[in-house]
Amino acid sequence: MADEPQIKKDVYDEAARVWNPGKVELLENLGIDVLLGDRSGYTFQDVGGQRLINVHINGGVFNLGHRNPEVRKALVDGSEVYDAGNHYFPSPVKNKLCEALLAASPESMKYVAFNNGGGESIDAAVKFARHATKRSRVITVNGAFHGATGIATQAGDPDMAAFFHMTPSPEEFSKVDYDDLDQLEEVLRLGDTAAVLIESLPATAGFPIPHEDYLAGVAQLAHRYGALYIADEVQTGLMRSGQMWCCVSYGAVPDMIVTGKGLSGGYYPMSAVIMNERAGQWLHEDGFAHLSSFNAAELGCVVATKVVEITTRQSTRDNVAMLTDLFATRLAELQTRHPDFFTGVRQRGVIMGLQTAHPEGGTALMAALYRHGVWSMRANFDTSVLQFKPGLLMSAEMAEDVVDRLDAALGDAATAVGLGKHPAGSVPAAAPSAPYSSVPA
Ligand SMILES: Cc1ncc(COP(=O)(O)O)c(C=O)c1O
Repeated sequence: MADEPQIKKDVYDEAARVWNPGKVELLENLGIDVLLGDRSGYTFQDVGGQRLINVHINGGVFNLGHRNPEVRKALVDGSEVYDAGNHYFPSPVKNKLCEALLAASPESMKYVAFNNGGGESIDAAVKFARHATKRSRVITVNGAFHGATGIATQAGDPDMAAFFHMTPSPEEFSKVDYDDLDQLEEVLRLGDTAAVLIESLPATAGFPIPHEDYLAGVAQLAHRYGALYIADEVQTGLMRSGQMWCCVSYGAVPDMIVTGKGLSGGYYPMSAVIMNERAGQWLHEDGFAHLSSFNAAELGCVVATKVVEITTRQSTRDNVAMLTDLFATRLAELQTRHPDFFTGVRQRGVIMGLQTAHPEGGTALMAALYRHGVWSMRANFDTSVLQFKPGLLMSAEMAEDVVDRLDAALGDAATAVGLGKHPAGSVPAAAPSAPYSSVPA
């Protein structure tokens, strides 16, 4: 279409007027003006621009790809029969999703409570812990992001809470360093902690990898001091670590697992708190104590049940194992090719953080990858790191293609920050990689 650039400009101008002026301005400053067009599998078309391979996948929303055909069919067929249903009543499709999630979780898990987004389920999990313990303190880690709802905001970055005048009292929230059990125990000793809330690998901090026994130690300490351990698996769950739940892959059994994002299949917002008996105590006392209009929406349950089925299949597990090895090998090679810039890979399954030697290396790499047809996102709380999150079902062919594009982008990004083979600005960046359409989807 000849007028595509104009369509894009009109949409952006209108968005600046009626939707979100600050976000539009920031995107314009970054030179990013994506307008989502056709999307399928792990690619999307930027209207009037290039086709991009998506290795951000909205933090996991598109874990199974854009418009996954099986999920879409479940949605379309389901819509012939179901709507949002009624949150007051039981329903076979709700039961089926509960059973599927419980079957994929540690045996100690007994109940599932549903919500729409991840933040809501974080809020809910903290409420459940506070009810179960009759305490209010929540311990979280520095560099965590748990969502933008009420409690989740307070559990996250202090500046984000302060922005909305939501700074919690020091008795309600404490922060400790990730991967530091001594600091955690020091706060737990106060004896007033309801919950230890931890992203199994903190995404916005760039997926730092903890000591192998850290998360099991968190569970042990929380229990020793009467607190509950809530595992935020919104980004790390649903097989992304190579197992259904990342914390379980580290041998930890939490009291609650929070999942979201990919549970939606990219179609129907769904999140859940999976609980053990202690965490689910409130359900026996007042089952109406936590509710919302759309929780466990029946059509959403149909979609999410299909998501869990695809996610837990052997062929999906095998593909994740294949991708894990492929990226481990190929990224190690790339490190040897760009040693001054590409300094490390944090990896657990297909959850990856690419470390660079420059404080803005993640930002530079994100911009360079964009030029080379790959959509990714830096780690906002550590901009030296790029979040690298291929989906569970990506083909080996596409993964190889992503690595080749990354190779070119690493050279450009290193040059841009002055750590390349040539001084910054002295050579033009490499030509953009070939359009994605040259490679089979
Ligand atoms: C680790 C983690 N927890 C919770 C959330 C909140 O989920 P939502 O945006 O669906 O509310 C996010 C969102 O990015 C997240 O990354």
